[in-house]
Amino acid sequence: MITRVVKLSSDDIDKDLIKDAAKIILDGGLVVFPTETVYGLGADATSAEAATKIYAAKGRPSDNPLIIHISTPEDAEDYTYTSPLYYKLAKEFMPGPITVILPAKNSVPRETRGGLDTVAVRCPENPIANALIRAVGRPIAAPSANLSGSPSPTNAEHVIDDMYGRCDMIIDGGDSDFGLESTIVKIDGENSVTLLRPGKITVDDIKKLGVEVEIASAVKSDLKAGEIALSPGMKYKHYAPKTELFLLDGEASSRVEYILNDDPHLTAVICYSDEVDLFPNYKVIDFGAKTDYITQAHLLFKVLRDLDKENYTRIYAPLPSAEGVGLALYNRMIRAAAHKIIKL
Ligand code: TXA
Ligand code: MG
Repeated sequence: MITRVVKLSSDDIDKDLIKDAAKIILDGGLVVFPTETVYGLGADATSAEAATKIYAAKGRPSDNPLIIHISTPEDAEDYTYTSPLYYKLAKEFMPGPITVILPAKNSVPRETRGGLDTVAVRCPENPIANALIRAVGRPIAAPSANLSGSPSPTNAEHVIDDMYGRCDMIIDGGDSDFGLESTIVKIDGENSVTLLRPGKITVDDIKKLGVEVEIASAVKSDLKAGEIALSPGMKYKHYAPKTELFLLDGEASSRVEYILNDDPHLTAVICYSDEVDLFPNYKVIDFGAKTDYITQAHLLFKVLRDLDKENYTRIYAPLPSAEGVGLALYNRMIRAAAHKIIKL
């Protein structure tokens, strides 16, 4: 497949290019577009064939449902059964990095929702994403634009590495603003949600609205034998770099001692800004200040992809705190490390 790569600036969106991209989607094709979280691999959410193409391009199991991207919260009406709680969340957080799981109407093909009775809706804030959805005039189904199992793409280079030749168009809109995927919540009752995937919008942000939040057990750990995944994506290996990642659970001094015992030729080190000088002779990545989760979120997937292009055997990183936006990092990093956490 021939892939056209185009550059678009959020400040001055080229309407003709958006029209070209919208036409591809309306004709049943695949367009990668930027969002404020990560890049998405988009197709017509109302077409079963288009959804099937997404699964094929990503190598994704077809029981792992897609998020439908809408341009205003009210657009959810045609595709889902909304509720006052949906609008409460929408008023506060949309457009923005949140995805809400709602009961689906039949207008969403089973292929798009991975066979479930529910559908995930998200109204992205990125102006290019928003312009594209409006130009298409119907929702765009889009998972992250990575090959299944690898870290989500946060710039066009990542997308090209994974998707070139597998989609019709790639829109390069620069670096993703946040860098980790949206917060996902499932509406459970009149005033309660379950957090299925943590993101930039935190548990506390939602609780501030007076909404009860239960955190799905898979957010902080692996599924136990026999446990059922609330979100099908939880059961698949995720975000995994090819280089083995180990998370070190301990203070800087004990992490330094542990790492310095390993071979600098085989080892790359992710550490906080004030620690970079503690690992002479090692490949060191500055991950920002210890509690600067925004910087860390912005860097994580890029760092994992960059290190995979070098020939290290192991990567060591500190186990992040699971507080605030840190919970999103914790969730992605324990998966990237396949739960290899070393308690120091
Ligand atoms: O930030 C994001 O959400 C990005 C951008 C492109 O919007 N999209 C994204 O999509 O991360 P994806 O497909 O990579 O992750 C969506 C997750 C999957 O784990 C999937 O299983 C879950 O959402 N999901 C989708 N529909 C669901 C549903 N009806 N019920 C439960 N989980 C659902
Ligand atoms: Mg994904």
